[in-house]
Amino acid sequence: MQSVEKTRASIGEGIAADALAGLLSPRKSLPPKLFYDEAGCVLFGEITRLPEYYLTRTEREILVSLAPELDGFVARRSSLVEYGASDEAKAALLFAPLDIAGYVPIDIAADALASLKARMAQAFPAIRVHPILADFLDPITLPRDVLGTPRLGFFPGSTIGNLDPPAAIGFLRRVRATLGEGATFLVGADLEKPTDLLLAAYDDAAGVTAAFNRNILARLNREAEADFDIEAFAHRAVWNPAEHRIEMHLESRCDQIVHVAGKRIIFRRGETIHTENSHKFTEPRLMALAMRAGWRVSRIWTDPQKLFAVAALQ
Ligand code: TRP
Repeated sequence: MQSVEKTRASIGEGIAADALAGLLSPRKSLPPKLFYDEAGCVLFGEITRLPEYYLTRTEREILVSLAPELDGFVARRSSLVEYGASDEAKAALLFAPLDIAGYVPIDIAADALASLKARMAQAFPAIRVHPILADFLDPITLPRDVLGTPRLGFFPGSTIGNLDPPAAIGFLRRVRATLGEGATFLVGADLEKPTDLLLAAYDDAAGVTAAFNRNILARLNREAEADFDIEAFAHRAVWNPAEHRIEMHLESRCDQIVHVAGKRIIFRRGETIHTENSHKFTEPRLMALAMRAGWRVSRIWTDPQKLFAVAALQ
């Protein structure tokens, strides 16, 4: 019991420290990994089903059509290593077509991993599952029996776009080192398109993305002794053309003072907390990024409307 309490306390401290580092800087920000507590994971699941959020369903279509073709360059009985796997829905599209032998979901959400593992035992009892509870940006050590099989890395959802280019390159390099010689890495990336379509995907009519963005403040209230008035912050999605990214902000609707873990944070009306970036790619920019991390792009698949891309790196 005691150690459980201790763990909770130190998680709380970790969150407060992470949050304060961003909130006390001149241009306020919060680390996007704070989005994904239990409530945040549920809200994100709702985002993926929104009519405006074309990313998830388009990537799923591409994965279904590419799976039989991947057969050529992914060995049978490979292990699938998924970075940021809150559920197995996308990986499951590859299990049967590729005859996957092992599945390594890596995620920071312990609850999500536990239910994933339980579902896998029911639906895919023949696949060995080795969940890894970690931030996928941290160095990962693969289990021994996974290293004994061919490896297919998987990074769907355009999560690559949530990293700044230098961080994305560093991540792609580490994945190459983790997966080792001969591995393939499948990466989903959202493509640049007219701004109104992009903005709608990050500011939906039903307000789910707004609720998801604001949940980060609710979480700080719950876990980091904060007193945010959630309604006093507006959700903003902004297209930044120079950086080729959608930026997510929480904009203070008034001058106000907020406390987080005993520290005072002063907000001016109109000032924002920058919570997330979602970079959008062209095929050449995606290829350049992969090459700078030492990968070769073997193939890029897109949907007919060229909304989304899935690249095979080797
Ligand atoms: N990888 C997703 C994306 O960039 C994450 C995401 C979707 C997201 N909607 C969001 C992150 C809203 C923060 C806020 O599309």
